[in-house]
Amino acid sequence: TDKYVVVGNPVEHSRSPAIHAMFAEQTGQVLTYDRLLAPLDGFEATLRAFAAAGGKGCNITVPFKFDAFALATKRTERAQLGGAVNTLRFDADGWTGDNTDGAGLVNDIQKNAGRPLAGLQVLLVGAGGAAAGVLGSLIAARPAHIAVVNRTADKAQALVASHAHLGVPLTAATLADAPAAQDIVVNATSTSLAGAAAPVDARVLKPDALALDMMYGPKAQGFLDWAAAHGAEPRDGLGMLVEQAAEAFFFWRGVRPDTAPVLATLRAAL
Ligand code: ATR
Repeated sequence: TDKYVVVGNPVEHSRSPAIHAMFAEQTGQVLTYDRLLAPLDGFEATLRAFAAAGGKGCNITVPFKFDAFALATKRTERAQLGGAVNTLRFDADGWTGDNTDGAGLVNDIQKNAGRPLAGLQVLLVGAGGAAAGVLGSLIAARPAHIAVVNRTADKAQALVASHAHLGVPLTAATLADAPAAQDIVVNATSTSLAGAAAPVDARVLKPDALALDMMYGPKAQGFLDWAAAHGAEPRDGLGMLVEQAAEAFFFWRGVRPDTAPVLATLRAAL
């Protein structure tokens, strides 16, 4: 039986095993998917031991996505662009690293939330690892413009500069200078970890905007409440979680699971 894991620290709360078990059952793929806790100073050793024991691939979560990037011997273009790897496939000739977070976000926005991004004004709040991981995929969906705003403006500038050649107009600004009336607002900051509201003013929301926080559960609630209070459609990161998992499943198995029933099951259990 082919073995997969999600590696992280902490990792005990990961929902990935439940998601991949549902995907496997649905598609008839025979595999196991477990959690693997790696010591903070032992990511590489943990991964090598798993691969040596017959592991076929893994997902990588906090705080190892940059280590996974470094360990990959080949990388997909989107992983290269984002500077982080959340999915590894152990091939005979090396480890291929992918980053499925951005495709997961875009699929959730377009397919599940029913908002085609082409031609829209998009605001990406944050310029850390989470934001970097999704910007390339947002660009690939061809919105009219993407503004990246961040507490530390330099980091927004750097992120925009590294994606400036991709053909969608990008601007960088501070949180206070975020543009008004955006169609889609994505919170990729870790402020939601503190249960806070959005780090930007509500003027960024066009009436009926989609306001998505990459977190889910209680951590996202402050942002979701803020969005709803200002007339936006709130959306948490649960759909993105399921969609990025589906992309990883496809990367490993070449089969696309149906995400809708899996998202519904997780939603009901949240
Ligand atoms: P992650 O991998 O979750 O993106 P990160 O790389 O540490 O983690 O990035 C955290 C993001 O949240 C950054 O955009 C950070 O802003 P800075 O670059 O200015 O640090 C943002 N962030 C964290 N705490 C914040 C706060 N209290 N207010 C506004 N932004 C905050």
